Amino acid sequence: MRRLQRMVFSPLVVVALSLFTVAIVEAAVTLQPPVKLKWQYYKRNTTCPEAEVYIRHQVELFWQKDKSITPKLLRLLYSDCFVSGCDASILLDGPNSEKTAPQNRGLGGFALIDKIKEVLEERCPGVVSCADILNLATRDAVHLAGAPSYPLYTGRRDGMTSSAASVDLPSPSIPLSEALAYFKSKGLDVLDFATLLGAHSLGKTHCRYIEDRLYNFNNTGKPDPYMDPAFAAEMRKLCPPRTKKSQSDPLVFLNPDSGSNYIFTETFYKRVLSYKSLLGVDQQLLFSNDTLEITQEFAAGFEDLRKSFALSMNRMGNINVLTGNAGEIRRNCSVVNKK
Ligand SMILES: *[C@@H]1O[C@H](CO)[C@@H](O)[C@H](O)[C@H]1NC(C)=O
Ligand SMILES: *[C@@H]1O[C@H](CO)[C@@H](O)[C@H](O)[C@H]1NC(C)=O
Ligand SMILES: *[C@@H]1O[C@H](CO)[C@@H](O)[C@H](O)[C@H]1NC(C)=O
Ligand SMILES: *[C@@H]1O[C@H](CO)[C@@H](O)[C@H](O)[C@H]1NC(C)=O
Repeated sequence: MRRLQRMVFSPLVVVALSLFTVAIVEAAVTLQPPVKLKWQYYKRNTTCPEAEVYIRHQVELFWQKDKSITPKLLRLLYSDCFVSGCDASILLDGPNSEKTAPQNRGLGGFALIDKIKEVLEERCPGVVSCADILNLATRDAVHLAGAPSYPLYTGRRDGMTSSAASVDLPSPSIPLSEALAYFKSKGLDVLDFATLLGAHSLGKTHCRYIEDRLYNFNNTGKPDPYMDPAFAAEMRKLCPPRTKKSQSDPLVFLNPDSGSNYIFTETFYKRVLSYKSLLGVDQQLLFSNDTLEITQEFAAGFEDLRKSFALSMNRMGNINVLTGNAGEIRRNCSVVNKK
């Protein structure tokens, strides 16, 4: 637990910790974190005290029909927060908005966010931001996938612009050092990186993202030596070599241990340790002492992971948030308000 304790000195998340260890909370409180967001903001400070309840209910209804909503929301939230902050800019329509960038191809979850917004605009118009809806809905969807729920800071407002040119999301085969530098550039550290990669416990990816690892790693004409040979052979069956452009690009589960059950557990980290990660970025958790140690800790049990996940989701959710008079509360998540 050494690394998790280090996180006490992060500027955020007092409340998230409060569920777990009183001593840690006290330590964190004395640091007086500069938090712009608030715990239970809607309940305590707005005319929509039931906002979180309405959101949870809608997420539950949706999840009962389609469990793949959990990885979709996780990806949508990541794509929003890492690019120009958690301002719901990923939700805006437009000829050159963020959602049109190549890295954002195949994003999902918009229909649920729109549905939640519609309900909230009926119950308490103009109060709950799309940015908070996305953060809260993701938290609830992760909970439904079997992870415990956790307190989330809210009070974000929505941005007014969205530009494909600003999308700097890295490729899934980025080298570890560059991935860590990217997280650092957003104010997140190595523990956030190793923790948030746990989102790959669920969901699917296209074969094109692992083709190099299966057939021609780093232009060697051979598979990635850091992929278990039996697992690589299995994956080659699901992802046959691509010979023509027109050939289909199948979807495969990122974590076959979770697969169509969409259960969030520590199996993702166990697979890293046994060289059975699909994406290069995941397998590279073995490549530094820090990330290896964190991976071993998470693989050993779900408890450390869930604590760290609550912290890191709040830290990601705090990237460049708009509060006070900045931005607006969008009436419709896909368009800015008319003047
Ligand atoms: C929000 O509500 C809490 C509890 O009612 C109160 O202590 C706090 O000052 C309020 N904050 C704002 C920004 O209104
Ligand atoms: C890929 O190949 C280059 C050139 O041979 C080498 O310098 C580099 O370390 C290799 N990268 C990996 C990840 O093996
Ligand atoms: C990683 O740990 C090993 C063994 O404890 C040590 O020899 C090595 O210097 C460490 N590497 C880094 C980059 O800290
Ligand atoms: C929100 O805006 C989009 C784009 O203009 C529109 O298609 C959609 O119908 C709107 N939703 C609602 C609930 O008005």
